[in-house]
Amino acid sequence: MYSRDRWRVYKRVCFMFFLAVVALTVVQRGNINMGAPFELQRQARMDASVGVEPGLRNDFYLGIKTFWKAGKHLAVPKPQAATKQPSMITKESSPRIWDVTSTNCTANLNLSSQDWFVGLEQHFKQFMLYRHCRYFPMILNHPGKCAGDIYLLMVIKSVATQHDRREVIRKTWGKEQVVDGKRVKLLFLLAKPPSEEERVNHQKLVEYEDQIYGDILQWDFLDSFFNLTLKETHFLKWFHTYCPNVQYIFKGDDDVFVSVENIFEYLESTKHVENLFVGDVIFKARPIRKKENKYYIPQALYNKTLYPPYAGGGGFLMDGPLARRLYWVADTLELYPIDDVFLGMCLEVLQVTPIKHNAFKTFGLVKNKNSKMNREPCFFRSMIVVHKLLPSDLMDMWNLVNSDLVCSQKVEIL
Ligand SMILES: *[C@@H]1O[C@H](CO)[C@@H](O)[C@H](O)[C@H]1NC(C)=O
Ligand SMILES: *[C@@H]1O[C@H](CO)[C@@H](O)[C@H](O)[C@H]1NC(C)=O
Ligand SMILES: *[C@@H]1O[C@H](CO)[C@@H](O)[C@H](O)[C@H]1NC(C)=O
Ligand SMILES: *[C@@H]1O[C@H](CO)[C@@H](O)[C@H](O)[C@H]1NC(C)=O
Repeated sequence: MYSRDRWRVYKRVCFMFFLAVVALTVVQRGNINMGAPFELQRQARMDASVGVEPGLRNDFYLGIKTFWKAGKHLAVPKPQAATKQPSMITKESSPRIWDVTSTNCTANLNLSSQDWFVGLEQHFKQFMLYRHCRYFPMILNHPGKCAGDIYLLMVIKSVATQHDRREVIRKTWGKEQVVDGKRVKLLFLLAKPPSEEERVNHQKLVEYEDQIYGDILQWDFLDSFFNLTLKETHFLKWFHTYCPNVQYIFKGDDDVFVSVENIFEYLESTKHVENLFVGDVIFKARPIRKKENKYYIPQALYNKTLYPPYAGGGGFLMDGPLARRLYWVADTLELYPIDDVFLGMCLEVLQVTPIKHNAFKTFGLVKNKNSKMNREPCFFRSMIVVHKLLPSDLMDMWNLVNSDLVCSQKVEIL
């Protein structure tokens, strides 16, 4: 009796062990034979990278990480190793976590006794009172987003309520993909919805959206026009912290049309250019002094007659090493309420002149709604960025541009 029981248990254990071995073998084979070769490579590279923090949510690669460590598949060839630029990577200096965990920001009441401050409009007062608050904690983070080598990181400013814009971007030009072995990744930058009502209705949706797509970074400051500069500085700090191996960044708005194909073509043609910063650059812009204008700036905030050259925030390209240097500069300058001008000020400190390119149309264009350019797919096909399109128009234009459209040549527009 007793020994028969023991025998049964023994048999069962052996059988289960056998099953486990079979299952493991099948899983491994399955991964190797069925998975796209790239997928395999990518995961191997992610494993090799240092940018992954354990214990953080939405990190889909953690399970795989240990799997690859156990296996001998790390030897998968890495044809893209050549795209790395070891000399430009400064791993040692950057902490690998977002080190701001509490908000400790009180209004700077020192200002209220100063005459120039008392004369300011309400929203400028608000800006000045909190200008010294530089960094805020993260609500949604993806520390592993930049793991491995990334050729192009597309970073889009968005707000909680614009789910549809993000959706259409993911389906069109913002698709994460690999082109000729070069990886393209997508991120949206969000802050806290400004109204209580929006916070109640949209925050959960944003979190859900992020669980599905894993492409939202969100910080704990109010999403307002004057806080866009905070979005800029927070992204630069985030990039500096988590993205040592990104070659290029496209940064833009969530209502633009972008041709990634043309970005690639452009970047190929400018290989080895250092300090690349290209977009719809304005030289010698004057600060706007008309109070009704959205971009109005009082003398008290900026008293020079001209702005430094700067690129329209609707969409521009820069290289990774420059973005890292921009972080250091941005950290030392006083915040300026207009985000693209602020970046221009940072570039000026670095003595980098942004390049103006006609394929970036971030100003004007759509003012004339009847302009043929707004509906001409051959025009869009030859552009890099065009401002501004509603989600449905963007989808339509995307389909047109990617259809069997016959364009005589790339249209030269000036
Ligand atoms: C926040 O500020 C208060 C008052 O200035 C201070 O007592 C507190 O220690 C600060 N907390 C942190 C986490 O810095
Ligand atoms: C306000 O003034 C005091 C005294 O001059 C200074 O120590 C403090 O840093 C100032 N606060 C801010 C937020 O600038
Ligand atoms: C920017 O965000 C901070 C933190 O939420 C807030 O205190 C401040 O009022 C905002 N500034 C503007 C100009 O909206
Ligand atoms: C311009 O502003 C700077 C700093 O805000 C100040 O030092 C300088 O005196 C101002 N110049 C004029 C002409 O108002």
